[in-house]
Amino acid sequence: MNYRGPFRVRVEEKPHPKILHPSDAIVRVLRSCICGSDLHLYHGLVPDTRVGTTFGHEFVGVVEEVGAEVEKLKVGDRVLVPFNIACGKCAFCKQELYGNCHEANSQATAVGGIFGYSHTAGGYDGGQAEYARVPYADVGPTVIPEDMDLDDAVLLTDVVPTGYQAAEMGGIKKGDTVVVFGAGPVGIMAAKSAWLFGAGRVIVIDHVEYRLEFVRNYAQCEAYNFLSLQDPVLFIKETTDWFGADVCIDAVGGDAAGSAMHTITGKKLLLQAGAATALHWAINAVKKGGIVSIVGVYGPTDNLVPIGNVVNKGITIRANQTAVKRLLPKLIKHVQDGNIDPKAIISHRLPLEEAADAYHMFSAKLDNCIKPILIPSTADN
Ligand SMILES: NC(=O)c1ccc[n+]([C@@H]2O[C@H](COP(=O)([O-])OP(=O)(O)OC[C@H]3O[C@@H](n4cnc5c(N)ncnc54)[C@H](O)[C@@H]3O)[C@@H](O)[C@H]2O)c1
Ligand SMILES: [Zn+2]
Ligand SMILES: [Zn+2]
Repeated sequence: MNYRGPFRVRVEEKPHPKILHPSDAIVRVLRSCICGSDLHLYHGLVPDTRVGTTFGHEFVGVVEEVGAEVEKLKVGDRVLVPFNIACGKCAFCKQELYGNCHEANSQATAVGGIFGYSHTAGGYDGGQAEYARVPYADVGPTVIPEDMDLDDAVLLTDVVPTGYQAAEMGGIKKGDTVVVFGAGPVGIMAAKSAWLFGAGRVIVIDHVEYRLEFVRNYAQCEAYNFLSLQDPVLFIKETTDWFGADVCIDAVGGDAAGSAMHTITGKKLLLQAGAATALHWAINAVKKGGIVSIVGVYGPTDNLVPIGNVVNKGITIRANQTAVKRLLPKLIKHVQDGNIDPKAIISHRLPLEEAADAYHMFSAKLDNCIKPILIPSTADN
């Protein structure tokens, strides 16, 4: 997969990745998903997304080659590769903040390294490819349990941990009302995870009907179309005895719809770090003293967020890139125990060669698309 500029991707030959450091591995990709995060790149909203970059931070594959220092992986291992590139040794990695590694991204004061996520996240090529170079191979990559379906495994590289961490950061207490903005793969997993933390009521807000329908069944929650609500904030207050939700989760990020002003200033004129409409609603719909948990991605510059309301309501906002590796042991167990069925969200399987069509379909929400997965012709199973 090769980025050619906003709304343009192609599949082209690139040189086979090589071991550049003794702690690298080369992985032959078996499955690679397209993520809502890739849409921010595809829409041209992420700075320093260079033409020629290969996207893809959600992939599983077979280890083909390992550098001289790699100890935990061997050739032939089937691995799931967390989207974070992390050194495993710095002060942040030591606290299991694998999304904030201080070494893997020389540009960073905030985010660590991410596969295929522009030069602001380290400039690494991603896994929407036949082969990928995986740095710090002993840190992130995790051998896939024998009994685990590859389709489940690939969703453990980002979507499942991110939905789970969104719920975890919400500090959900027994019986809490949790509102999730966004019914994409991440919002779906956040809604599902909210129950695991003891939520008493889970409400999802989006405007794409087929996704609302899906999440209602998948996560057994309430789901509402904000286009048919006069005002989503008012609706949430009304339905919570005018208290507001205990926890609001932003699983939308800077590509949000719902406000002409945010769309124009955030997405058309690029005066903001995206359209912060869902975040705006989350802040206003949470109760006083509540928690707003943000996993939706925004650019680094200022946002039109109601920051004054954050102060006056005394609310807690928690946010981060997901520390996938920290959560994997717990989530692998949840999948094996049948508490989470990740692969149920995969709606489309396409050959890697059809990446351009896949991006268009996922971005335009065509054909009831929830999660597309790309399969290279070199994947043998
Ligand atoms: N923090 C992390 O580690 C991390 C990891 C993965 C994804 N993400 C981010 O999470 C977000 C969601 O990812 P996804 O894959 O589910 O994306 P997606 O694009 O498939 O889904 C986003 C959904 O939000 C809906 N939406 C748009 N405006 C809305 C609004 N105002 N209110 C409610 N819903 C609205 C869209 O219709 C869509 O269904 C993205 O911003 C992505 O970049 C963050
Ligand atoms: Zn992702
Ligand atoms: Zn580190």
